Amino acid sequence: MEQHEFKTLIEADDIQRRVREMAERISIDYPESSPLFIVLLKGAFIFAADLIRNLSIPHEIDFITLFSYQNGTKRSADVGVINHLRCHIEGRDIIIIDEIVDTGHTLSRLIRTLKDHNARSHRICTLLDKPDTREVNIEVDYVGFTIPDVFVVGYGLDYRERYRNLPYIAELTPEIKNTINS
Ligand code: IMP
Ligand code: MG
Repeated sequence: MEQHEFKTLIEADDIQRRVREMAERISIDYPESSPLFIVLLKGAFIFAADLIRNLSIPHEIDFITLFSYQNGTKRSADVGVINHLRCHIEGRDIIIIDEIVDTGHTLSRLIRTLKDHNARSHRICTLLDKPDTREVNIEVDYVGFTIPDVFVVGYGLDYRERYRNLPYIAELTPEIKNTINS
């Protein structure tokens, strides 16, 4: 385990409870159409694993890796695709699973692709939403927790590929960041 003392923002139990509620809500909203869940890698892999295990409806799952050019904790609007979807999109009801919506650039890139491939519908399901930092206007349909403009790690979210394994969400304060960087 890492040695840093993190400032916990959302406890593990609260995450698990909320994820169960979200899965129940989605199961009610999609009783019959067998939606296709598209999981954004890498960050959403833990959230997606917990969410789908709480679903009570038939569904399929696929994965996509998008990246935005990044400088430390700052993101840019330039989004590229690393691995592509393998499932057929046309005519499907899609639910995108993301771990956090920040500027919204990553999701708006993916939504463009889904429209190009004639998805029947799409909704966004995210564990965390940071509305204060949004740069593009996108509709987020299922939100676990709304958080302020702080950089967070844990439950799949990383800082330089570290801390994805924490079972809770922690704020990466500038003081901790300095000790990591030094
Ligand atoms: P967006 O395109 O700016 O919405 O960025 C989305 C991606 O940036 C997320 O899926 C995360 O991978 C990453 N990201 C944004 N905020 C944070 C954070 O606070 N901690 C860790 N990763 C973040
Ligand atoms: Mg992500």
